[in-house]
Amino acid sequence: LYKLELVLAKEHELKTIGVLAAAAAHSLSTPLSTIKVVAKELEKEIGNQPKYSKDINLLLSESIRCGEILKKLSMAPIKKDDFFETVKLENLLIEITNSFKEISNKNFLIKSENNKFDPTVQRKAELTYGLRNFIGNASKFSKSLVEIKIESDKEATLIKVCDDGPGFSEDIKNFLGEPYIHSKNPAVNSKAGLGLGIFIGKTLLERMKANVNFGRSPNIKGAMVTIEWETKNLLSI
Ligand SMILES: Nc1ncnc2c1ncn2[C@@H]1O[C@H](COP(=O)(O)OP(=O)(O)OP(=O)(O)O)[C@@H](O)[C@H]1O
Ligand SMILES: [Mg+2]
Repeated sequence: LYKLELVLAKEHELKTIGVLAAAAAHSLSTPLSTIKVVAKELEKEIGNQPKYSKDINLLLSESIRCGEILKKLSMAPIKKDDFFETVKLENLLIEITNSFKEISNKNFLIKSENNKFDPTVQRKAELTYGLRNFIGNASKFSKSLVEIKIESDKEATLIKVCDDGPGFSEDIKNFLGEPYIHSKNPAVNSKAGLGLGIFIGKTLLERMKANVNFGRSPNIKGAMVTIEWETKNLLSI
């Protein structure tokens, strides 16, 4: 019963996060419009000077991107037509990874030699956002390399997200999956955020019938997150 209560508390927290996200999106939209206006002014003033034009264009395009993200955040969390769209799991990984390549200078490598079955899955927001959280962490905490492995056959499907960063710190190992995780380790401190990503990612992927585990990457030595399904479960999410 105690366990059940814990699970329910976490579920509730996740719903609250959805509301918080919408609220945050709402209050961020005003300063964002200011940034856009100022960037446009700068473009007019100094946009034709080669020294600045690249930066100003980036500022403009990124603020437009932010606006689009905020719009999505403040809308209903799951779009209706998501239910009818399917995608090959490997393609979904490629899509997610590409979106990080655009904003990161790390190297991303997808290894799919053993992706024999390549399951077709429903394009559920839980799946995309769950995977995103772990790939995002790997990108953030890596030195230079993020390696994503996908293996599948009729029985099992496995995704491993590995990076060459410092790995999970000792002091948080037992808490991974809980909300508001914060390590005292200086190797990760400067990059740490609210400590909600793993909690959200794990909860979302577990809703998608996955098992999520944390460890150390055997070949590139940093963190490794393992996401595992019985393939038949993945096909019926
Ligand atoms: N790939 C990783 N390598 C090393 N440590 C990690 C990695 N991913 C997570 N961690 C550790 O786990 C902590 C919690 O991760 P989590 O994603 O929940 O929060 P966060 O990234 O700090 O903030 P946010 O809420 O923005 O995601 C991190 O602060 C970090 O200490
Ligand atoms: Mg995170």
